[in-house]
Parts: sequence; C-alpha cells; structure tokens
Amino acid sequence: MKKKAIVLAGTRGIGRAIADGLRDVVEELVVTGRSDLDTSDLEAVKRFAALHPETDVLVLNTGGPPALPFDEITEELWTRYFHQLFLSFVLLLQRVHVRNGGHVILISSFHVREPGPKMALSNSLRLAFISVFKTASKTAMLRNVSFVNIAPGPTRTDRLAELAAKSGRTIEDVADGLPTKRVVDPAEIGAFVRFLVEKDIHAMSGVTIPFDMGIGDFVL
Ligand SMILES: NC(=O)c1ccc[n+]([C@@H]2O[C@H](COP(=O)([O-])OP(=O)(O)OC[C@H]3O[C@@H](n4cnc5c(N)ncnc54)[C@H](OP(=O)(O)O)[C@@H]3O)[C@@H](O)[C@H]2O)c1
Repeated sequence: MKKKAIVLAGTRGIGRAIADGLRDVVEELVVTGRSDLDTSDLEAVKRFAALHPETDVLVLNTGGPPALPFDEITEELWTRYFHQLFLSFVLLLQRVHVRNGGHVILISSFHVREPGPKMALSNSLRLAFISVFKTASKTAMLRNVSFVNIAPGPTRTDRLAELAAKSGRTIEDVADGLPTKRVVDPAEIGAFVRFLVEKDIHAMSGVTIPFDMGIGDFVL
C-alpha cells in the first residue's frame, strides 16, 4: 500500500515546512489550506474524514487564535476556537484511521507550558486537546502508531509577523528581544517530522517536544 501523509494547514508556515519535509518520504501527500479544510467547520471536518478514512501520517495543524486580554475573549470566540483547536482534532483522531506503524503529529504551542497573558484561547484549548492526544496514544501504541506533540516557540512565519505587527514590531524585533537573537526556522520542524517518519521512530510517543530554542524556563 502507498504510504500516505495528510498535513492540515500545510499551505504556509510550519505546516508547509512539514509538507516539504515529507514530500519525498511518502507516495501520497495531501496538503490542505483553510479553503480546503477550515478546522473551525465541523461539517467540513467530517466530510474531509469521509474522503480520507486512512493514512500513515496525520499532521494536526491549524491557524492560531488571536492574542487578546482575557476580558476581551467573547463567547463566540471561545466556541469558534473550541471547534478549531479542539473538537475538529478529536473528530479527526476518531475518524481518520492511522495505519499500523504510522505517526500522528500535533502542532501546538510553547504557551501550553508557559501560558502567555493574552493567549488564554491557545493555552487552554490546546492543553485540553493534548490530554485527549495522550489518551489516544495509549491505545495507538499497541499498533506501533506514535503520537508526538510539537510545541513551537516564536517561529518565522506569517503568524509571527502578524502578531508582531499588532504591537508595531517585526520578526527581527521579536528576535532581538530573545536571548537567542533569533526565532525558530520552520524548516527545523519539517526536518524533525521527516526524521520521525523516514527513520521509523516509534519509541517516542505521547510526548510534547518543545521547539523553543531553549528559551522556556520549564525543567520537564
Ligand atoms: N509561528 C509561531 O511563532 C508559532 C508559535 C507557537 C505556535 N504556533 C502555532 O502553530 C500553528 C501554525 O502556525 P504558523 O505560524 O505556521 O501559521 P501561518 O504561517 O500563519 O500559517 C497558517 C496556516 O494555517 C492555515 N489556517 C489558518 N486558519 C485555518 C483554519 N481555520 N482551518 C484550517 N487551516 C487554517 C493557513 O491556511 P491558508 O494558507 O489557506 O490561510 C496556513 O496554512 C498555529 O496553530 C500557531 O498558533 C505558531
């Protein structure tokens, strides 16, 4: 059977770097952008799963939520991002069968370990999904399917440029404010995912891997 990978939100940024990394490792590569599959639209998610009932590699990625002070997050935003960051991914895990020996990769955020003051939507909903992800990994491991959650720090993408622009900054300004004086190159994440798939790495599962260049203060 042809080896297949599905990369959601693979048209730009981190998802695109992962799709580029996997391009010559699998025989069939399905890459979606928002117009192909908006993960806040649960009916679209169900249709997508019906079209793609099986894969070897499933990359769960989507656009990030806005950065807002807690008091400004409306009920409508909570509902929308509950669908986009949580329920759609739960439905995909339940409906898209990842074949024995496969990989499920989640793109979350370093904010799940160190909540940002304006990132309540991201911190909370992603963390809830990571708990589901861990639970699902416990049965998937019996079939040698590994689950890896990648938690990126500031990464050179359109999203970082947009978030920086909200406070009149550029990506270079963000980098200057970091001890590393650089941000993460999305190609590093793409190369890591490629490595997991190409080298059949399965001993690593149910874990969160920070891609933050070491700027986080957590020990574990
Ligand atoms: N960049 C960072 O510094 C950073 C740090 C931590 C976490 N993250 C998280 O990593 C994920 C990817 O971010 P990125 O920086 O790679 O973003 P990006 O460069 O802005 O790319 C966003 C991708 O998500 C897709 N997308 C947007 N809204 C979507 C929706 N409702 N449903 C499905 N797909 C959607 C876009 O598709 P179109 O091309 O069709 O618009 C595009 O492929 C996000 O969840 C983000 O919050 C990023």
